Amino acid sequence: MKLTTNIFSTALAGLTLLLACGAAQGADTNKGRQLFAANCAICHGQTGRSVMPGAPNFDRGEGLLRPDFTLLTAIRSGKNAMPAFQGILPDRDILDVIAYLRTLH
Ligand code: HEC
Repeated sequence: MKLTTNIFSTALAGLTLLLACGAAQGADTNKGRQLFAANCAICHGQTGRSVMPGAPNFDRGEGLLRPDFTLLTAIRSGKNAMPAFQGILPDRDILDVIAYLRTLH
């Protein structure tokens, strides 16, 4: 019985550590919001409601039904009227913005 409790608390401690690390490495939506306001809102709108014809409305979830990596590639290389952000924003920052985009809907 004592042994079971020990195993359980060890597992729990491990899990807590794992969650703490995950959170530390996870995307920062707060930073994403600031980056979006500075780099993307001019076309995609402060609230994600597009102010440019042809740009997706993120507040309706448009353009976001794709994995993060696909969106990262599109933002890096640009798409039609959207400029490329490679060399302007590091991938880490773009991923923060993507995480933020997913909160707009
Ligand atoms: C100059 C205007 C402009 C700026 C600035 C801009 N975008 Fe876009 N964005 C567009 C347009 C237009 C499209 C639609 C492209 C198409 O599908 O023809 C688009 C499409 C997208 C898509 C959908 C991509 C896809 O695969 O369909 C994402 C995601 C996106 N933008 C994110 C961003 C982010 C994040 C930023 C800022 C880092 C940004 N955009 C800055 C105009 C812009």
